[in-house]
Amino acid sequence: MTALASTPNHLARCTPVARSSGDTPPRDATQAAAATSAEEALSIGQEMAAWRISGYGSPEKLEPVRRPMPQPATGEVLIKIEASAVTRADGMMRAGTPKFARLFLGLRRPRHDLIGTCLSGRVIALGPDVTRFAVGDQVFGEAGLTFGANASHICLHEDGVLMPKPDSLSHAEAAGLSDGGLTSYNFLNNIAGLKAGERLLIQGGSGSLGSAAVQIAKAMGAHVTATCSASNLEMVAALGADQVIDYNREEALQPGADFDVIFDTLGVSSFAKAKRALHRRGRYVCPVLSLALLGAMMRTAKFGGRKARFSATGLLEPKILRSMLDAVIDLCEAGKYRPLMDRSFAFDQLIQAQHYMETGHKRGNLVVVN
Ligand SMILES: NC(=O)c1ccc[n+]([C@@H]2O[C@H](COP(=O)([O-])OP(=O)(O)OC[C@H]3O[C@@H](n4cnc5c(N)ncnc54)[C@H](OP(=O)(O)O)[C@@H]3O)[C@@H](O)[C@H]2O)c1
Repeated sequence: MTALASTPNHLARCTPVARSSGDTPPRDATQAAAATSAEEALSIGQEMAAWRISGYGSPEKLEPVRRPMPQPATGEVLIKIEASAVTRADGMMRAGTPKFARLFLGLRRPRHDLIGTCLSGRVIALGPDVTRFAVGDQVFGEAGLTFGANASHICLHEDGVLMPKPDSLSHAEAAGLSDGGLTSYNFLNNIAGLKAGERLLIQGGSGSLGSAAVQIAKAMGAHVTATCSASNLEMVAALGADQVIDYNREEALQPGADFDVIFDTLGVSSFAKAKRALHRRGRYVCPVLSLALLGAMMRTAKFGGRKARFSATGLLEPKILRSMLDAVIDLCEAGKYRPLMDRSFAFDQLIQAQHYMETGHKRGNLVVVN
């Protein structure tokens, strides 16, 4: 998830994680990959495996490391991670783009040097005063602004974004729930205020956010039109879209199309272009912040019937995010939403997974599995 702010207190980890100079250095590429498998870390017992980011740049900036096993502090649980997501937001944080984000992430290099935000796994130890979870619970959630979800283990506070994993989902599926599922729910329900019977256009119906949005919007009772390429038309229709448009052949933003809501999941359009296809009281919502979107939000906040809106989902209070995840879990359990999965990569293939994510052509969610 996009997450740009100073570390909230509830996520501050007081675990004895070694500084980069204390990392056990990888011996060579093959050995390093082998040495970072989660199983090895478990068998070592005292160490965890993670991926360190040495500076902003390409996926090659990532390197496997081993660090002391974190110890859960008061209110924290230690999780053995089974799967973690590889998201577009992770890629932006790794690259340090857009550059203004470095104000929050760290000016010259990432303030937190481990990567990964969304995960699913099993609670294996409790710190003092934990009440929501027990050892053995299957959980999913997000590491938030302290990162470190692409790892074998992590400590998270029980008051953070940590939820029981729906039984109907695998760990690989649950790892992406806090990315596409949570973000799309926030944008459709809270930001756009989508109502049953309204006409919705989703731009990018085959991505992580878009594939979740199609399913969630149908469950909310909307009439859904989604754009995607020819190769994904069938798949997006199977997710429940009432109408699918090949974005290479047809312009979805036709004057007079009269959509109540346009969810531009990728920022491929703009409020200026979308306006002509919006109902006079329609809402254009987009999770990709730009100066143009910011300007449109400021202009439309007070004037005009059509509105432009953005939200940084990851910056919302954990309590609010947990209540949205409750709704997302209900949809999963009712069989109305299931995260769309693209490839799974092995934990030691994070660099390849990040390269694949960067193509911009993944279908749904990418994960690394331990
Ligand atoms: N603000 C927030 O709270 C928040 C939270 C999470 C993510 N985000 C942001 O949301 C954005 C979307 O993330 P995502 O993970 O959903 O993206 P994604 O999964 O990487 O999107 C890839 C999909 O987009 C399709 N696509 C590419 N160009 C398209 C176009 N012009 N029209 C329609 N579809 C197109 C591709 O299909 P083809 O291969 O067929 O082209 C592919 O299936 C990212 O920028 C991310 O940083 C924001």
